[in-house]
Amino acid sequence: NNYCVIMAGGIGSRFWPMSKTSHPKQFIDILGTGQTLIQQTYSRLKKICPEENIYIVTNEMYEDLIIQQLAGITKEQIICEPSRKNTAPCIAYANYKIAEKNPNANIVVAPADHLILKEDEFVKVVNMALAFTENNDCLVTLGITPSRPDTGYGYIQFDTNASANGEIKKVKTFTEKPDLELAKQFVESGEFCWNSGMFIWSLKSINKAFETLLPTMDGIFKEGVGLYNTPAEKEFINKSYSVCKNISIDYGIMEKSNNVHVISADIGWSDLGTWGSIYTHLDHDDQQNAVVGDNVMLYDSEKNIINVPKDKLVVLQGLDDFIVVDTNEVLMVCKKQDEQKIKQFVNDIKLSK
Ligand code: GDD
Ligand code: MG
Repeated sequence: NNYCVIMAGGIGSRFWPMSKTSHPKQFIDILGTGQTLIQQTYSRLKKICPEENIYIVTNEMYEDLIIQQLAGITKEQIICEPSRKNTAPCIAYANYKIAEKNPNANIVVAPADHLILKEDEFVKVVNMALAFTENNDCLVTLGITPSRPDTGYGYIQFDTNASANGEIKKVKTFTEKPDLELAKQFVESGEFCWNSGMFIWSLKSINKAFETLLPTMDGIFKEGVGLYNTPAEKEFINKSYSVCKNISIDYGIMEKSNNVHVISADIGWSDLGTWGSIYTHLDHDDQQNAVVGDNVMLYDSEKNIINVPKDKLVVLQGLDDFIVVDTNEVLMVCKKQDEQKIKQFVNDIKLSK
């Protein structure tokens, strides 16, 4: 009864210029490991459920990329969205598709673009969560011990009392992307973990949550019952997405639900959210430069992140703490500490065109 849903429709704007709307982060081998992030995610989830039960929800513009990158995947497994409406509609749509196949499904929802170093541990906690959701009407998320007051994450306050089953804890509050002050308080209190953005629930429980917390959205998708997995689906979905609210699962469901549980997951997780966050996962030279590219010559330069085409000769002198990314089409040089401005560059470029 186990199914996996990979959310792969984001555009990864903080990783510009490597990641761009036509070819976002999840389809890039960002760490130079030989595998793109979605390839890693897919092979990891094959350890959780049969391959044919893995669905990928993405924008229709990425369908070909997915077929190219995931050997053996069938078109049936790719759920195409006509527009970007964030993760709540993405999950609702997948739920209704899966419901037609198996109303008793248990579902693992995972982003396509995360790094998980401890794969065995990941499989273990996910199976534990699946067993729990089988017998309990609840929404489970994998929680990560926070290491800094990052405002890009959801913060989960868990019940510090020992729970009946040890590792799985009842959630008191869920705060999506708090401001810095609040994030600092959360981290200092020791009562919070980060939401990893990976969820485990039964189809029945998540459907109930949509019915009560996002009833309008649920109504839109419910109208399609009988049309899913038929030739009439596409037209129905185009219409539905055009009227559907744009909201994430975190704001739409997780913040509001009162039956969320969290399982603490020590899985070597990183959401590879920014250039800075991948720095620690790359090899460094003696001057602490992380270099992807075969022909880079560095003089008096340290602590840079450099990602350039393999064959390009690049010479840098006297440069410290910068991000240098060259895609042939675009060259970006940005101070490491100012990397949050990259989102702004992307917006400005859109406006200037
Ligand atoms: N199919 C589809 N459609 N996928 C989408 C869409 C969409 O419209 N929008 C985003 N996604 C995918 C992204 O590609 C990514 O894999 C995943 O959904 C999560 O979206 P992000 O946009 O990356 O969310 P976030 O990083 O800001 O926040 C989420 O993840 C954090 C951990 O990395 C939240 O769940 C936070 O609470 C969490 O801490
Ligand atoms: Mg993300």
